[in-house]
Amino acid sequence: MMTSGKQIGILTGGGDCPGLNAAIRAVTKTALLEGYQVLGIRDGWKGLLDDDTEPLDRPKTSGIIDRGGTILGTSRVSPLRVEGGTQRVFDAMSRLGLTALVVLGGEGTLSVASKLYDMGLPLVGIPKTIDNDVRGTDYTIGFQTAVEVATEALDRLRTTAESHHRVMFLEVMGRHTGWIALYSGMANGADAILIPEVPLDDEGLEQLCQMLVTRRARGVNYSLVGVAEGTVLQGKMIAREYVDTAGEIPRPKLGGVASVLAEIIEEKTGLETRVSSLGHIQRGGIPSAYDRSLATAFGVKAVSLVRDGKYGEMTALNGNRISSTPLSEVANGIKTVYLNAYRIAEKFFG
Ligand code: F6P
Repeated sequence: MMTSGKQIGILTGGGDCPGLNAAIRAVTKTALLEGYQVLGIRDGWKGLLDDDTEPLDRPKTSGIIDRGGTILGTSRVSPLRVEGGTQRVFDAMSRLGLTALVVLGGEGTLSVASKLYDMGLPLVGIPKTIDNDVRGTDYTIGFQTAVEVATEALDRLRTTAESHHRVMFLEVMGRHTGWIALYSGMANGADAILIPEVPLDDEGLEQLCQMLVTRRARGVNYSLVGVAEGTVLQGKMIAREYVDTAGEIPRPKLGGVASVLAEIIEEKTGLETRVSSLGHIQRGGIPSAYDRSLATAFGVKAVSLVRDGKYGEMTALNGNRISSTPLSEVANGIKTVYLNAYRIAEKFFG
C-alpha cells in the first residue's frame, strides 16, 4: 500500500535479545512525534522479501519497554543470499512507500545493511546482540542483560559447588568472542574464565589443572569456571554442526566445549566436575534497566540520523556518549575482548 508523507520501516534481524522492543518503541514514538509514519517489517529482511509488514503506532508500542524478544519477529534470512533478493528489497521499499529503513541487528544483519547501503538503500543501523561483538560501539543492546543472567547463574552454582566439593563449569554464549564469559566471570569472581581470544593449549590446560588442585590444597573445596561457547580447546573450536540453510547467513552452531573440558579435567585431576549450559535463557526474558535505557537512546538517535539524512551510519555508545559510526566499520570484522580487561580478571583466578 502506498502512503503519503514520509514513512520509516523498521526490522529486527539475527538472534533476538532483550531490549529490542524498547528500541522499537523508541524509534516508533520518536518518529511519530517528528511526523513520520512507521511500518514494522516482520521477521527481519524476510518481511521485505515477502511483503510481510504491519503499521506501528503508539498503542502497539506502548507497554513493551520491559518485554523481551521482538514484537516484529526475527530471522537470519539475508537478501544477499536469495536469488534476486537485493532487487526485491529495493522494489519493496518503493512499493511500501519507505523513505528510510532502521535495521536492528548484530554483526551479520548490519554487515548486510552496510552492503545494501553501498548499493543505494537509505538505511541506518542499531547494534543489538547479547554477544557484544559489534565493532564501533562499546556496548550492544542485550549484552548487559545477558551478563546479569550469567552472573546470577554463576552465583547460584557457587553454593551447590561448595556443598558437593565440585568443579562447576558454566558455558555461556558469545559466538567467537568472550564478552559475556569475561564480564559475568569477573562479576562472580570465577576461578577461571575461558574465552576464544585466549586459546587453551596443552600448556594452558596443565596450568588450569594445577590451579584447581592447588586451590584444594589451600583448603577451598570447590571451583567455578566460566566458559565461552567459542573457546578454542587444544586448537579446536567445538561446533555441534555447521548450519547452512538456504537464504541464511551460514554459521557454526556452537556449544559443548565445557563438557569436553570437564571430562578432560576430571580425568587429569580426579576432581569431580559438573557442567551447566545457560543456552537461550541468557537471551530471553526481561531486559535490564541498562539495556532499556541504551535501547531508548539508540532509538532516538536512529530517528535523528534518518531526519538528518545520515544514511549508512549506525548508532553507537562511546564512553557515556551516544554517537554514530559508519556501518562499514561493522563489516570489517568482529569486536573481540580487550585483553587488558582479561588480564584484570586473571589476577583473581584460582
Ligand atoms: O548471536 C547471538 C547468539 O545467541 C550467539 O551467542 C549464539 O552462538 C547464537 O546466537 C545461537 O543462535 P541460535 O538462535 O541459532 O540458537
